Amino acid sequence: MLVCTGRLLHVARVLSCRARIKQFMSSVSGSGDDDLANAMGKRDTWENFYKTQSEQGTKQFDWFVGYEEMVDLVSPYLRKQRKPHKAHVVALDIGCGLSNVALQMCLSSNEPMRIVCADIVMTPLETMRQQYQSTRGVVRNSESHLLFTMADASQLPFRDGYFDVVLDKGTTDVIIRSSRGSDLAKTVVQESLRVLRGGGHLLQFSDEDPDIRLTLLNGVTRGVRATVTFKEISTSHGMEYFMYVVQKEN
Ligand SMILES: C[S@@+](CC[C@H](N)C(=O)[O-])C[C@H]1O[C@@H](n2cnc3c(N)ncnc32)[C@H](O)[C@@H]1O
Repeated sequence: MLVCTGRLLHVARVLSCRARIKQFMSSVSGSGDDDLANAMGKRDTWENFYKTQSEQGTKQFDWFVGYEEMVDLVSPYLRKQRKPHKAHVVALDIGCGLSNVALQMCLSSNEPMRIVCADIVMTPLETMRQQYQSTRGVVRNSESHLLFTMADASQLPFRDGYFDVVLDKGTTDVIIRSSRGSDLAKTVVQESLRVLRGGGHLLQFSDEDPDIRLTLLNGVTRGVRATVTFKEISTSHGMEYFMYVVQKEN
């Protein structure tokens, strides 16, 4: 019964997210698909979106899939990174928005985690920082922590090889839709790989079909020592997404 209730609550939450995405789409779409595609690649669109969310008191909002649906997929990559001489698993969530994923990973991990949440807009970072501060008491490993920084995923302010894992849920998806989309998306993947250590993983959660996304990922990794794989994820609300994994080799 508990499981059933939890599942119903989860489905209700996902449906409410979908309604909000739909509302968001119609608020930015102007007159057509091209306008929408361009708008989603612009920083102003996201500033306005998060301003509205903040005015409405929204504290959390996950694109595509939430922590519950991702945890089993992501955890093996976080554990695999652990090296005896390293104090933390170090991860970066690019275009984190109001996603709950990094926060939940930080709170529930037995391993000490250091996760940097980055977005091109400040408002969601402030909201997430407040949430994080209010949950510090329940973090499972007291060595774990979250950091928040405003950053453009196409010009990441981190040194080469700093991260074990880079997470990108829906961010390349929106960047690719802007007018300079394919070039920018290529740069975002290159930047993600630059800041990853050898052996680290870029995990992209996306609704983009493999025939398109693999062209991007295989193109960027051509000539670089990296392997690209993907798997399909069917969610509880009947939608299909993909998890793309790029492993940067040592
Ligand atoms: C579709 S939302 C995904 C948010 C979050 N990852 C999630 O799964 O709920 C895209 C996010 O990317 C951010 N974004 C857009 N362009 C960006 C860029 N160039 N660099 C960093 N973040 C960006 C937006 O502000 C927004 O928060």
